[in-house]
Amino acid sequence: MVPVLLFPLLFLGPAVAQETQDGLYSLTYYSIGISRPNEGFPSFQATGYLNDQAFLHYDSESEKAEPLGPWKHVKGMVDWEEVSKTQKARGDFFLKNLKDIMDLYKDTGNHTMQEKYGCKIRNNNYCGAFWTIAYDGQDYIKFDTEIPAWIPLQPKALNTKVKWETEGSVWRAKSSLEEECTQKLQKYLQYSRTFLDRQGTHCSLCHAPLH
Ligand SMILES: *[C@@H]1O[C@H](CO)[C@@H](O)[C@H](O)[C@H]1NC(C)=O
Repeated sequence: MVPVLLFPLLFLGPAVAQETQDGLYSLTYYSIGISRPNEGFPSFQATGYLNDQAFLHYDSESEKAEPLGPWKHVKGMVDWEEVSKTQKARGDFFLKNLKDIMDLYKDTGNHTMQEKYGCKIRNNNYCGAFWTIAYDGQDYIKFDTEIPAWIPLQPKALNTKVKWETEGSVWRAKSSLEEECTQKLQKYLQYSRTFLDRQGTHCSLCHAPLH
């Protein structure tokens, strides 16, 4: 009995006590890569959301992740140096993947890749994740954490699935969503939960099915 009770207590941290809404929260990153951005425009950008509130923005021109809105005044929630570094690495990888997809289609010129990546918690427990990538505005491939596997959403995406599952581990992708993302969300909520509850924000991704 004791270990069962202890585990959630260790896991939850200090902010659990005052949960108001039905305990649903999400952390989502929307990213976009452009093969031929206009002069002075970033080729990669990412925006982080807590529920439906944008709190973080990164772009490849400044190479800096920066807080948005009220999060400009929150100290200690995000290690901005660290996030800037990881987003830079992600941006480089993202644009390389965009090039690979363009090669599959023998496309040249200006193309875009968009990504929606994130996780949800309910009452402080993991309750789902999503990772979908679109090419030129059309859903291209998504990650299924249950199998786990990349699921092609267009015929050409089968090549990408095989490549990504050969070069990278599906288990690492799964743990990045289920563990790292969830832990980040739990940490961010220690600083942001009261604000999100007070604003009546919604975990928009908790109800709508994600394709
Ligand atoms: C490439 O596409 C992006 C996104 O649609 C657009 O903002 C940008 O202006 C385009 N670049 C050029 C050089 O036309």
